[in-house]
Amino acid sequence: MSARIVSGGEGVDEAVAFLRRGEVVALPTETVYGLAGDAFNPLAVARIFEAKGRPLTDPLIVHLPESGWLDRVALFDSASQRAQVDQLAAAFWPGPLTLILKKHPDLPDLVTAGIQDVAVRVTAHPLFQEVLRQLNFPLSAPSANRFGKISPTSAEDVRNELGGMIPLILEGGPCEHGMESTIVAVKGGDLEILRPGPITSEQLSEYGHVAPPSEVVKTPGSLPSHYAPKKELQIIESDIMDWISASARKNPALLAFRSPMPAVIEQCTALEVLSCSGDLREAAAHFYGALRRLDQSKSDIIFAEALPEVGIGVAIMDRMRRASHGSRHASVSLHE
Ligand code: TXA
Ligand code: MG
Repeated sequence: MSARIVSGGEGVDEAVAFLRRGEVVALPTETVYGLAGDAFNPLAVARIFEAKGRPLTDPLIVHLPESGWLDRVALFDSASQRAQVDQLAAAFWPGPLTLILKKHPDLPDLVTAGIQDVAVRVTAHPLFQEVLRQLNFPLSAPSANRFGKISPTSAEDVRNELGGMIPLILEGGPCEHGMESTIVAVKGGDLEILRPGPITSEQLSEYGHVAPPSEVVKTPGSLPSHYAPKKELQIIESDIMDWISASARKNPALLAFRSPMPAVIEQCTALEVLSCSGDLREAAAHFYGALRRLDQSKSDIIFAEALPEVGIGVAIMDRMRRASHGSRHASVSLHE
């Protein structure tokens, strides 16, 4: 099977037809592309796990067309929790926010990997919304990459990741945010950020006390190694030139935040600049695509420049650290 990339109204109709038959298709969202299947059809959900090579212990996000569908997939602990969720939904949906709530018993256990909580979100992408409007069921959709690999931010990225495993990819252009949704557990009035993303803790703090992230690894998706390139990736916290000169590698690639100095550029086999103007939102939107290109370049190591950890910079650095985690020399300092 080789995935076809389809677009426009006909593409939407085809995607809907596949989903009604219990097949899985890749759909664009404003964060990253998702691999979608009928959340109420365990066979379709199983196909998602299979195509991604994802362990059955790692739960999926359920995508709704609007917050009015929440009662079909989630339960509320109290009227005050309901009110808090309604406020969050009014402020951030449709958009890049995922909420963790108590699971509705009718939702298949496979979706939530057997746990009693469910992750829900309403995406802002018009094509994903159009698909949902034509269906009478919500869609489970994790990012459309092989498990643990770099998330796709274009239809072509999805084809490179899952082309042989799925029939159809709906073309929706490059993803606006380029970084997965912020995941927030809503518990006892507190908001706990389980995964940083485009909606920042500053934005959330208007809707509840933002609890400090706990140290416990809550889901396999929050394992230290994730979003991993094949090549070794080292994060540069100090002067780029020092790092590149100190490296024994002949062909370094550089993932730069802003445009580096010409002398640095000369030393690099491959270069990606996330945002010439130093804009963190733009950097986030380009991050995965740039990482993917450097991973495919002729370089033998990727140096990644650390970004300021403010706003969405928190989410970018979270992904960068996970991408570097498997690297053998990630913690080597220049002075060792
Ligand atoms: O932006 C996004 O959220 C994208 C688009 C496609 O919607 N989706 C996405 O899904 O990033 P995925 O599966 O790649 O990442 C979802 C993360 C995983 O780390 C999973 O373990 C966690 O959410 N998760 C899902 N359900 C959960 C639950 N009930 N409790 C805690 N974590 C959960
Ligand atoms: Mg993912």
